[in-house]
Amino acid sequence: MAGAGLSTPSGIPDFRTPGTGLYDNLQKYNLPYPEAIFDIHYFMMDARPFFTLAQDLYPGVNYKPNVGHRFLRLLHEEKKLQMVYTQNIDGLERLAGVPDSKLMEAHGTFATASCTLCGKIHNPDRVKEAIIDGDIPIMCEAAMCKGKVKPDVVFFGENLPSSFWDYHHHVHFTDLLLVIGTSLEVYPFAGIVDTVGKTTPRVLINLNSVGSLGSRSNDVILAGDLKDSIWSLTKALGWEEKLKNLEEKYDSSEE
Ligand code: APR
Repeated sequence: MAGAGLSTPSGIPDFRTPGTGLYDNLQKYNLPYPEAIFDIHYFMMDARPFFTLAQDLYPGVNYKPNVGHRFLRLLHEEKKLQMVYTQNIDGLERLAGVPDSKLMEAHGTFATASCTLCGKIHNPDRVKEAIIDGDIPIMCEAAMCKGKVKPDVVFFGENLPSSFWDYHHHVHFTDLLLVIGTSLEVYPFAGIVDTVGKTTPRVLINLNSVGSLGSRSNDVILAGDLKDSIWSLTKALGWEEKLKNLEEKYDSSEE
């Protein structure tokens, strides 16, 4: 399970860390409350705050995966990865090589786009171009529809992808749950941690303790910066060389 903390080493602020979190830095948008930037009703009224943020956050434009994302790829290569459930919309797990079949982007993705009124699917590249050029709002192409188009990022007030609920199946076959870089403040995503069986160890990799982690005798808390925790876990697994190679491989593919 991953949250915005997984991407802070890539330079993307998380939401709730006091001072640096996104929700502490939205003054310029004059929002009624911070989460309004991801609220579908507010978006219908004024889409500019979201699109201004999207211009900066657009996946694969300004940011690249970090060691945390590559650790997920390494778990896959070592045949230990069942599924990555992420709340992040930055697409960095995919950029680091986590296969689509093992990635559930519970809060949606920029990879597709649709009309918020009639649901018509739109060309994501055209939507990306319009967002980056600041040519917004993007109106629906369907005749007679006056809807606004947005990337398929899940806003407050919208449903999560139906396949998110497959987690009830996955948790039964999970030997271990890793919870990385999330405050576990937002449901239903946060609820996953309490559905794994009592005999399944839950490992929290986070600056601080969150949610119910620590309440079970077999919970493990790796508190501190996730970069340090990931490297110490990798050392304990004897996978240091493999993780280093992944970094070189990625950097070479970056050119
Ligand atoms: N190392 C370890 N932990 C970190 C690091 C780091 N380098 N950076 C941040 N964290 C931790 C923070 O301490 C915090 O507990 O990651 C967590 C991030 O929490 P949030 O900012 O609340 O982000 P997240 O849990 O993903 O938010 C969930 O809220 O607004 C919605 O849709 C949005 O998906 C988002 C959801």
